[in-house]
This record gives sequence, structure tokens and C-alpha cells, in this order.
Amino acid sequence: PAKMQASPAPTAAPTSSPAPSQSIKPTKRTAKDYIFGKLIGDGMFSTVFLAKDIHSGKEYAIKVCEKRHIIRKKKMEYIKREKDALNMLFKVPHGFVKLYCTFQDVDRLYFVLSYAKNGELLSYINKVGSFELNVAKFYAAELLSALEKMHAKGIIHRDLKPENILLDENMHLQIADFGTAKIMDPKEIKSAPVVQEEDPTRNERSRKISFVGTPQYVSPELLHNCVDTRTSDLWALGCIIYQMISGLPPFRAATEFLTFQKILKMDYEFPEGFPADAKDLVEKLLVLDHTKRIGANDKGDTYESIRSHPFFAGIDWENIWEQTPPTIS
Ligand code: ADE
Repeated sequence: PAKMQASPAPTAAPTSSPAPSQSIKPTKRTAKDYIFGKLIGDGMFSTVFLAKDIHSGKEYAIKVCEKRHIIRKKKMEYIKREKDALNMLFKVPHGFVKLYCTFQDVDRLYFVLSYAKNGELLSYINKVGSFELNVAKFYAAELLSALEKMHAKGIIHRDLKPENILLDENMHLQIADFGTAKIMDPKEIKSAPVVQEEDPTRNERSRKISFVGTPQYVSPELLHNCVDTRTSDLWALGCIIYQMISGLPPFRAATEFLTFQKILKMDYEFPEGFPADAKDLVEKLLVLDHTKRIGANDKGDTYESIRSHPFFAGIDWENIWEQTPPTIS
């Protein structure tokens, strides 16, 4: 029964009675253990609700998936990927939404996630127009730091975008939405990029991965040949840095097809006044050949070549998650 991770589920175990000699197995949770509130997210295959644990009063974000829909669209693999990736990241203290437990009923699957109170990074970019340089630098540093942790575990996100980057109650960033993640052998992920096998779960016709909305952050290699490389997340990092500073993503067009064409031709421009250090870093991330992107050949668990880029001058990499984030205004 306890198919959930061996991590602290929002537990129904008694807290005041004396501890019994043998450990109590927490009972599997059901939807009745929560009071469901407002809708906070909507994807292709799921709906996210704010929910309150009736035992602890704690708030969670519960992702609900209709089984019929998942089966009809053959997306069982996405559900498994998301659960596997989030379980692997559970003990990473910062940078990721946490999966506390999962359960199901006849019709639906439920993921009980930490509730990122301040919502999507995208809303903040859109609200203020564009970030001041110190703000963009701080969030780019938190994002890079989270990517380092994720890649060290062999996880490639493959759908990073400001909608999937959430902000917790202290305005620290949390990456969400691992439905399109690829889990690789951590030894394999930082070896020299070689020609890789195509993902057998994707075929020629369904190689679109799961584009919800416009795929403005997808890397050329994912469009071209489905090569799985952690550097696809670095391409997305480049797009997100560009967007935090300029207000809009670099590759924009009226249709998905035209956006793809722009990405493959690297058809983008920097607006007037875009800071030189930021421009230089973005240009080193948005490189067609994924093996030539900055960071592509870094060894070890950190992206030293990216960390030491002048754009990040002054960032205290060791304490980034303990700092008070600069105010977005
Ligand atoms: N939207 C989707 N997932 C969410 C989460 N974990 N917290 C807040 N909003 C969300």
C-alpha cells in the first residue's frame, strides 16, 4: 500500500501519544483528507488546486489528473516521470517543488505538492515589465543552482519556462512540472556529449513533447532530432535570462511553426540598452550546437564556466538560498 516515498508525508500519525515500540505505517491518504480550494494551475493533463490538510491545517498544491484522459492520450509515461523525478529531488533542500505523497481514486490520480505561495515567475515579469539587473541576476543564479542539483541527479527538465518556475513564500524559486523530464544515469549525463539514442517513448509523429502554450523555450536539438542533453535546459536558461531583462522571450512569432523556424535560424535580437554582460552570457547559452554552449563541457556538479561569467559577478553561490531575494519592482 505505502507506494509513496519513504519521506515525511503529511502524516496522520498521532503526535502526542507515547511512541509505540514498532513504527506505525501511516495510512494511505485520500481526497477526504483535504479541503479543496481555488484552482491555481491548469495544464494539458492536469489541474492544480490549493488544498488544506484537514489534520494539520497545512496548505498544499494538489495536482489532479483524470485517469481517462491520461489513458486516452497515452500519457502514463508523463505521470511516472513526474513522480520519479520529484521523488529523486525530495531531499534537495531548495529549488524544487516537493512531492509529499500520491494517491488515487477510481477516476483520478493525485499529487500532493508543496504550495508555492507566490505563483509563477512569469506573472512577476509581466507585472513589472522587466526585471532590474540585480533581480534578473539573482533569479538566474538560483535557477542555475537548481539546474546543477537536478543535472547532478541525472534529471533533464526539457520544458523550463517562466510558467514552470514558481516562487515560494520567501520569494525563492522552485522548479515545477516534471512531466516531460528525462531521467538519465548521472554518470552518463555529464560525459562528453555524443550522438545519443532517440527516446523510444517518442516517435517521429509525437516528438512535440508536451507543448502547453507556445514552445518558445525549446532548444534546436529537441526540435531537430530529440537528442537528450542537459544543455537543452541551458538553452532555456538563456531564453529566461533574456526574458527577465527584456520582458519578452527571444523567439516570438504568431504561430508555433514560425517560432520553431526562428529558433532553428537563431532569428532573435537584443533590444537597445540590453546590458553587455547579460548579452554575452545569453549569446553563449543560445548556441545552435549544443556541445558548444557555455557549460556543455563542465565537469563536476556545478557549472563553473557559467558561475564565473561576468554577468554573475558578486553572486554568493554558497548562500544564495539563505539570502533575502532582492525586491521585484
Ligand atoms: N501551480 C502549479 N503547481 C503549483 C504549486 N505547487 N504551487 C503553486 N502554484 C502552482
